[in-house]
Amino acid sequence: MDDLRLKYIKAISDARDENALEDVRLAALGKKGEVSLQMRELGKMTPEERKVAGPTLNALKDELNSALNAKKTALADAVLNARLETEWLDVTLPSRATNIGSVHPISQVTEEVISIFADMGFSVAEGPRIETDWYNFDALNIPGHHPARAEMDTFYMKRSSDDERPPHVLRTHTSPVQVRTMEKSGAPIRVICPGGVYRADYDQTHTPMFHQVEGLAIDKDLSMANLKWVLEQFVKIFFSVDDVELRFRASHFPFTEPSAEVDIRCSWDDGQLKIGEGNDWLEILGSGMVHPKVLSAGGIDPNIWQGFAFGMGIDRIAMLKYGIPDLRSFFDSDLRWLRHYGFASLDQPNLHAGLSR
Ligand code: DAH
Repeated sequence: MDDLRLKYIKAISDARDENALEDVRLAALGKKGEVSLQMRELGKMTPEERKVAGPTLNALKDELNSALNAKKTALADAVLNARLETEWLDVTLPSRATNIGSVHPISQVTEEVISIFADMGFSVAEGPRIETDWYNFDALNIPGHHPARAEMDTFYMKRSSDDERPPHVLRTHTSPVQVRTMEKSGAPIRVICPGGVYRADYDQTHTPMFHQVEGLAIDKDLSMANLKWVLEQFVKIFFSVDDVELRFRASHFPFTEPSAEVDIRCSWDDGQLKIGEGNDWLEILGSGMVHPKVLSAGGIDPNIWQGFAFGMGIDRIAMLKYGIPDLRSFFDSDLRWLRHYGFASLDQPNLHAGLSR
């Protein structure tokens, strides 16, 4: 009995991991373990022998069991300690620098435009970039033979030869959203419609995709005077200048009558553009009173309602405001450019903190 005891106490203390310990347990106390076999022998003993051997064996069994449990806990503790040794974090280390993205100037300027017009009571309307030729042209009083259709360098969606449907186009301007809004909400209307537009053109001032913002106001007694005030407000706030002079130049658009292109007074000294002073003029948008045919196309009665519309290049005014020389660079995805001209997400110009950088 003493030999058994010494043998297994040593084996338990030598066990290096839980598997080895389990082997020891089976060898001693398992069904065919040495101690278990001894217990079985008790049956063959005389009552006197049993009285001595029984309690001793039971005591041995209990001792081994508690030694096994103690060792098991010790092994588990050792494993945990080893893990704690290797898996640790120095929470006092300064955090690693992460790459923080920047807000693209187009997104930034779009937000600025939206917030300025929102302040004047305009909400935002959107339309699809893939447009039917009806919304992009016909509804805007640009019929099939009209030169404006050809001038717009339109991208047409591919149609299989047996597809009889009228063509879809990549919208060449945001003006179709005017008609969609008229259909959807009826008059009165005060919306701006920002978004991407497409034309097959590429040079320093043209990219096949660019951005416009459309404005549309319909009511019973709106006039060019309201258009002028709204645009002056916008330009003053957007360029952060107290005084601006706008020049309305008679022009022609099929969807407005009368139509005007709007220039803004500026100076170009030493290649530096200054808005609001000087002797130069810079064209920034097209505008006019919405053509009765366009109102009718949108389901609005031109005998009751009238209003103004305008269309402005977002990329264009972004270049002017933030001194970005080449339109193409907007869409190059050059990280150095984005870091230079982009805006920190928590440090953007806005209506409340000021719109100049
Ligand atoms: N859609 C015109 C363009 O892309 C811009 C424009 C001119 C929009 C006059 C208007 C407008 O709403 O009244 O060239």
